[in-house]
Amino acid sequence: QISEAEVALFSVSSYACQRRTTLDNHNSNLTDALSLLAENAELNNEDGRGVAFRRAAALMKALPTQVISMSQLRGLPCLGEHSLRVIKDVLENGVSSEVESTKQSKRYKALKILTGIFGVGAKTADRWIREGIYNLEQLRDSGQTLNRAQKSGLEHYDDLNEPVTKAEADAIGEIVQKAVDSVLTGSQVALTGGFRRGKLTGHDVDFLITHPEEGKEVGLMPKVVAWLESQGFLLYQKTTRNSYLESKDGPARPASNMDRFERCFSIFKLTKGKEQESTQPEEQNDLKTKDVLRPHMQADTDQQLCELSKNYQMEAASHKIWRAVRVDLVVSPISQFAFAVLGWTGSKLFERELRRWAGHEKNMSLSSHALFDNTQNKYLRATSEEEIFAYLGLEYIPPSERNA
Ligand code: CTP
Ligand code: MN
Ligand code: MN
Ligand code: MN
Repeated sequence: QISEAEVALFSVSSYACQRRTTLDNHNSNLTDALSLLAENAELNNEDGRGVAFRRAAALMKALPTQVISMSQLRGLPCLGEHSLRVIKDVLENGVSSEVESTKQSKRYKALKILTGIFGVGAKTADRWIREGIYNLEQLRDSGQTLNRAQKSGLEHYDDLNEPVTKAEADAIGEIVQKAVDSVLTGSQVALTGGFRRGKLTGHDVDFLITHPEEGKEVGLMPKVVAWLESQGFLLYQKTTRNSYLESKDGPARPASNMDRFERCFSIFKLTKGKEQESTQPEEQNDLKTKDVLRPHMQADTDQQLCELSKNYQMEAASHKIWRAVRVDLVVSPISQFAFAVLGWTGSKLFERELRRWAGHEKNMSLSSHALFDNTQNKYLRATSEEEIFAYLGLEYIPPSERNA
């Protein structure tokens, strides 16, 4: 037993962007619980609660050692009454009863399954649940009209819910670089998102594309997408043009947290084994299910035929030589590149906290396009992330320490 006087006390800054948060988490029992409640709140469109739990989870992620007693948390910021109750429950009982009952609830399970479909958000999932749809089978049977993204999402459901590895991200990076080189020489591709923060897996792969000569990047995305499409790399894509220039509310203060870059939400068709640099011939892409049907499979009765067909499908799935991967592509002019890289590296909470710090502590407006100083009434130019942190009066935090 450790006495109260012996337990280590922590001193932690209140903004996540003031802290160094690595992937080395000493309190995953607590952060898993808080993150699940955050996710549940977000799935129920309770954004305020969601942020409160995210902040509490992020604070626990930043602690240098494992918490063993509530008394260690005295004086720490970001921990509200509700979060403290959850932490106490986990410390005393090993699990949080609220987390356990949430995980078991029919609604939470359905929200997870349905929002697991690419193109389906919390609002759509809620509407379907109110119509009695709780799983994919019921969704398929319901005759609901799905948009193009949702159809694709449903079709590639298993692949898209399988974490993307760093090797796969690198393989896709090579393809994107090749595409960009083919349509505009000198273009640059940067890996952003979770992989830039050093994560070993992700739910997608994020790339930022630019060109060292300002203006050359205009119209780049449609060309890149056309090239990728012509090579058969895309299973789905939706390109949105740049709306930054025509925005009226000022570039640093977009109406939402969404930026206005030319972007493409896509699903890549990635040949398996490619990331291990194997020399699989291209025609394997067209491997048909018949090729994997074993010759000894012969059906005599209907029941056997049915069995056979099931085996056949399983064989086909296990022999599938490609997989679907979500990829985000964004094009930025070089003058905004540092802001775009900072904005697209994440984590989401780190970004939110950077913007909150800028506004509340510095009277500045930060976006993925620019930094505006409201006191001096001018934009602050930057060509590196380091410069942006310096303008904000923050110690520079490298990507690997932005895992808040
Ligand atoms: N982002 C954004 N606008 C969007 C979507 C994402 O600015 N419409 C930013 C997010 O703020 C985040 C980064 O892009 O900083 C990456 O987002 P995302 O891919 O969702 O998260 P990751 O941190 O990469 O995590 P994961 O591994 O799950 O992909
Ligand atoms: Mn450590
Ligand atoms: Mn990502
Ligand atoms: Mn993304």
